[in-house]
Amino acid sequence: MKVSIIGAGNVGATCADVISYRGIASEVVLLDIKEGFAEGKALDIMQCATNTGFNTNVSGVTNDYSKTANSNVVVVTSGIPRKPGMTREELIGINAGIVKSVVQNVLEFSPNAIFVIVSNPMDTMTYLTLKATGLPKNRVIGMGGALDSSRFRTYLSLALAKPVNDVSAMVIGGHGDTTMIPLTRLASYNGIPVTQFLSDDVLTKVAADTMVGGATLTGLLGTSAWYAPGASVAFLVDSILNNQRKMIACSVYVEGEYGQSDICIGVPCIIGENGVEEILDIKLNDTEKALFAKSADAVRQMNDALKDILS
Ligand code: NAI
Ligand code: 2OP
Repeated sequence: MKVSIIGAGNVGATCADVISYRGIASEVVLLDIKEGFAEGKALDIMQCATNTGFNTNVSGVTNDYSKTANSNVVVVTSGIPRKPGMTREELIGINAGIVKSVVQNVLEFSPNAIFVIVSNPMDTMTYLTLKATGLPKNRVIGMGGALDSSRFRTYLSLALAKPVNDVSAMVIGGHGDTTMIPLTRLASYNGIPVTQFLSDDVLTKVAADTMVGGATLTGLLGTSAWYAPGASVAFLVDSILNNQRKMIACSVYVEGEYGQSDICIGVPCIIGENGVEEILDIKLNDTEKALFAKSADAVRQMNDALKDILS
């Protein structure tokens, strides 16, 4: 199984690292526009192999898409990240041009690949990928919900003072500070609703911290986060390559699901060897439905910025 990662920066290289040491794929190719950069990252990761015990072959190339040929999955992390004070949405002008050219280059050599889009604003970049390529909707998946859900679970576990893997919770909607929807009502600690343990005030704070989870890290680090984003992409790639059929909130093209059409937005999906195997229709209450509709409006508005690049 071969994975190519376009953009060998912080998120791309971390993703390659996690895929390797967890043995998710037998071959990983990192590609970057910066001369020698992907080669350097790949060599550094390969030199972990004897100490961490993996056999994945990791290689790096500068702009040579022929080396990505016949990839099963292609991860797109190329583009610029957030700086403190910037929203994900402000990245659109630069990243749209990069993402469009990258996916077209990839398709020449990997016509059957499943795409995982990470570059921000991710919901809009996922939509751009779908529209610019005409790929079937099951093969274009935006990664945001896996990360936002893991942040939500982390903040819940800190509030509960219980192990994070005993906490189950999901974030749907757009991958933006004001558009994501942590589903507090459905979050549980070993199957018991967290509302039995945490007050409304605490849960409100947990949800608020989750929504600005990326901005908090950007403020602390001076650029956007990479460990959890890279691991979240690897988790998603694992479910595709190994046909795990995990339920993961992903940004995918909706055609009537949750009352929305013609946008890519985070919804609960079954992710397997064909990419998006199914979109699950979970029963939202009226408040959650209203939040989802508002989130969808914001994502749709953002997509308007693609008019020139898609014409
Ligand atoms: P980074 O700056 O560390 O890496 C980006 C890499 O892309 C650089 O090495 C750059 O040389 C490369 N690149 C730029 N143009 C390229 C092109 N045309 N072809 C190939 N490579 C190219 O940035 P980082 O932190 O890795 O973030 C990457 C993207 O992922 C950003 O847009 C960021 O906002 C987004 N992101 C999305 C998350 C999500 O949950 N969807 C989470 C974290 C980051
Ligand atoms: C994050 O959530 C900025 O999307 C990036 O960390």
